[in-house]
Amino acid sequence: MQGETISRDFPAIDAIIKKYGERKEFLICILQDIQARYGYLPREDLERVAEKLGIPLIQIYSVATFFKAFSLRPKGGHTIQVCLGTACHVRGAERVLSKIKRDLDIDVDETTKDMNFTLKTVNCLGACALGPIVEIDGKYHGNMNTTKVESVLKKYSTKMKE
Ligand code: FES
Repeated sequence: MQGETISRDFPAIDAIIKKYGERKEFLICILQDIQARYGYLPREDLERVAEKLGIPLIQIYSVATFFKAFSLRPKGGHTIQVCLGTACHVRGAERVLSKIKRDLDIDVDETTKDMNFTLKTVNCLGACALGPIVEIDGKYHGNMNTTKVESVLKKYSTKMKE
């Protein structure tokens, strides 16, 4: 469950590993289950997986960093993606990004202290005519500017993820 309080729950991690027969070839499935449980891959859990499967931690990290679906840091309830592709860039995407960073007091790839937002950037969301685009939880907000940022963020500050 995303946002679950982390106390090292090795019995839960061990159960996940056991479910896949403690077999190395199911490493990705094991990581997917851990990510589904905590919303990210806590380091201690990766160490536990390495120990139980008998594979080097570095190998697990290389898998975890190769796939974009995995996160090594806790994620907020809402994920914001600011498009910095060329079309969005020329229409002021950097200003929009700076405003979001300032308002949330975080940098790219960080999560707010209240765990409400995680900020990411992407290179193109495939809707360049609507740029600059900010995507939040999969919903596109087009023609963004620094003024609109505030009201959009406000909406998500109280809104639970659907
Ligand atoms: S460049 Fe932003 S949607 Fe294509």
